[in-house]
Order: sequence, then structure tokens, then C-alpha cells
Amino acid sequence: MSLFSFRQSCECSGHVPHMASNIICLLLFGKRFGYQDDFIKTYVYNFTEINKPREWTLGLFCMIVSTVVSPLTTAIQQRPLPLMEKLKNMTSSLIKEQMKTRVTGQPRNYVDCFLDEMDKRADESKHFSSEELLMSCLNLHSAGTDTTSNTLLHCLPLPHDHPHIQWRHIQGKVLTSRGKVLTSRGKVLTSGVRSSHPGGSLLNVSSSERCQQEIDRVLQGKDSVTYDDRHNMPYVQAVVHESQRMADTVPLSVVHCTTRDTQLTGYSIPKGTIIIPNLSSALSEEGQWKFPHQFNPENFLSREGEFVKPDAFLPFSAGPRVCMGEGLARMELFLILVTLLRKFRFIWPEDAGEPDYELVFGATVTPKPYNMKVEMRDTQ
Ligand code: HEM
Repeated sequence: MSLFSFRQSCECSGHVPHMASNIICLLLFGKRFGYQDDFIKTYVYNFTEINKPREWTLGLFCMIVSTVVSPLTTAIQQRPLPLMEKLKNMTSSLIKEQMKTRVTGQPRNYVDCFLDEMDKRADESKHFSSEELLMSCLNLHSAGTDTTSNTLLHCLPLPHDHPHIQWRHIQGKVLTSRGKVLTSRGKVLTSGVRSSHPGGSLLNVSSSERCQQEIDRVLQGKDSVTYDDRHNMPYVQAVVHESQRMADTVPLSVVHCTTRDTQLTGYSIPKGTIIIPNLSSALSEEGQWKFPHQFNPENFLSREGEFVKPDAFLPFSAGPRVCMGEGLARMELFLILVTLLRKFRFIWPEDAGEPDYELVFGATVTPKPYNMKVEMRDTQ
């Protein structure tokens, strides 16, 4: 909070990932870092880099090719990637620090719990080993940082308040609210017509102002927000979900593989086929959404103004391998956004010019770095 209160113009893209990383670090290692701490800066930087297109595409390429020519690619896969080695060393140092103060049977965090299980299950050394502990800490941190922070970075400049930075995804392109279709590189392709909206006046009211009215009403007299407050904040809930739908943070989910011969809608998929799900298609499927291609919280509101979640809302995927951190992520998005909007007004700086619309594609989708002016609200 102090990070935002003392700044005029805040580099959101730098700080938001630290916020998400700190939450995971608390759960895993019982430790949080100051925002100027060099360790967390490097740690988050390395995780962000490893999710970028070059590293991610290389990993995906190796995975796919290894199913065809395994001896060759096994050799490639086993060659350590420099970034991964750095991350392993840093995570290992955090685990070792934990172990110094650990008391068996009195777990304080994930690492302690894992070590307790390791002691109990000495016969299951394949699953409960030091290497597994290291890799699961890396996976949990990686899965829970970029995803949450990229979603927040998409929703901080709430599109209704800043119409010129409205991201609308249309078949892999982005449509600005001025009705121009841009490629992901920001090039104008064509002009479109802004669609009208049955809710009429809703579009004329700023999203964050409506959120702030709801937040002020529900939290009146309370020091801080709790997750239960969401039941009384249908509009905030709709904004959070709509931001997540538009953010489409993990468009290709995680690669899966069929474990047996499968029939699906007339197609035969043999055992061992690699499956790359396309979550974007569900999130903007015509017929599933009132406004599939534009930011509009009405997508999650009934006629009576109650919060409703359509079945096509699948940013966390579905089935037995659905995102393990869904509950945590939803809690984080709601609590962080409410806390920030209650205290602050986020303003696109006048001198910042037109934003760069280019989205950075990798394991997750990231908006280009941006700064916002942050003003303390006088109602607080
Ligand atoms: C907005 C935030 C997030 C989004 C959009 C997201 C999305 C996803 C998606 C699409 C998958 C792939 C599911 C599949 O294989 O079908 C996944 C897997 C996973 N996520 Fe998340 N995630 C988010 C936050 C988190 C958080 C905070 C954590 C907690 C540490 C987390 C941990 C995981 C793990 C461990 C898996 C692998 C589950 C498995 O393979 O069984 N995620 N996530």
C-alpha cells in the first residue's frame, strides 16, 4: 500500500508481479520481501523472462519433438537452461533458509509440510524427495505469479475509465473502443462500429466509479475487505471476471496428452496425442456471451443486477487438471482490486500519449509495460 501512496506515477508492470510473488513466497517459504529487495527483483525478473516467447517456445518445441525423435531431444531437454539453473539455485537457498528454523511436526508453510511428509514417507522417495520439493516450489511460484499479475495489469486501467486503452480480442486481434481493429503489433487494420448496449447508461458511467460506490457502501465502517464481502458486490465481481475474460492470460492452457484412444465429436484421437487446448475460443465464443468481443461487465450480470458466471468462463481450464490455484487466484484478484480501488484512483498520465497496444505472447499473455498516476481518494 505504501508503495502506491507515495508515488505520483507508478510503474505498475514492475510492482504488480512483486505483489503476486510475495503472496506465493509467504505460502511456500513463510517469507515476504520489501519491494526494493534485490533478491525478489531478480527472482521475479527470472520467472518473467522464462515465461517469455523465446524460452517458452523452445520448451514447447522440445516437448513436441521429443514424442517423435526421443533420443535426440532427450539430450536437448537435459541440457540445463541458464535461467532455470539460476531459479533452481535461488529457490534452493530459500528452502535451506527455512530448514534452519524448522521444528518437525509444527509446519508453518508449504516447505515445512512437504518436509514433514518426506519424513513420514521415506518409502515414497520418488514423490517426496528434495528434488521434488524444489521442482514443486518452482512450479507453484511460476504458475501463481505471472498469471495473477498479468490479469491485474489488464484490469488496473479499467477500460470504461480509459476508453483509449480498451483491449478487445477479435480473432487474435485487438479492437480499440474507437472502433479500429489492430493487429497484435498495434497496426490499424480496419475501422469498426461501436456496438450499442441495452443497458445504455451503464456504459456512460466509469467502471471504477461504480466499483468505488459499491465498495464504499459495503465496506462502510470496516477497516478492510474480506473475501465474503464479494457476495454483496455483484458489480465489482462482474468487473473482476470481465477483466479476466478479456485478459485471456493463459490462452493455450497447459499441454495435455491422451492416455487412451479417444472419440470426440466424431474425431478419433489416438492414445499419446498431444492436446493443446484453446481457452481463448471459449472466452470469446459468440452465442455464449452477451458482448463476446468487448469489455462489458454486463456479461456477468443478470437483468436484476445479480452476479452470474456463464459456463464458458474457463480461464482456469476445466476437468480434473483444472488450475490448482483457482481459489487462491480468485481471492487475490478480488481482495487486491477492492483494496486498491477503495484507496486510490488510477489515472492514465496525460503526457503518456497513446498506449502501446502490443500484447506480449509467451506462456502467459502480458500487456506492454505501462505507468499510471495514482491518486489517494479523499473519501478515505
Ligand atoms: C488468474 C490467475 C490464474 C490463471 C488464469 C490460471 C490458469 C491456469 C490454467 C489454464 C492451467 C492449466 C489447467 C489444465 O492443465 O487444464 C493452470 C494450471 C495450474 N495452476 Fe493456475 N492459473 C492462475 C493462478 C494460479 C495460482 C495463483 C496458482 C497457485 C500457486 C496456480 C497453480 C496452478 C497449478 C499448480 C497448475 C497445474 C495443475 C495440474 O497440472 O494439475 N495457478 N492454471
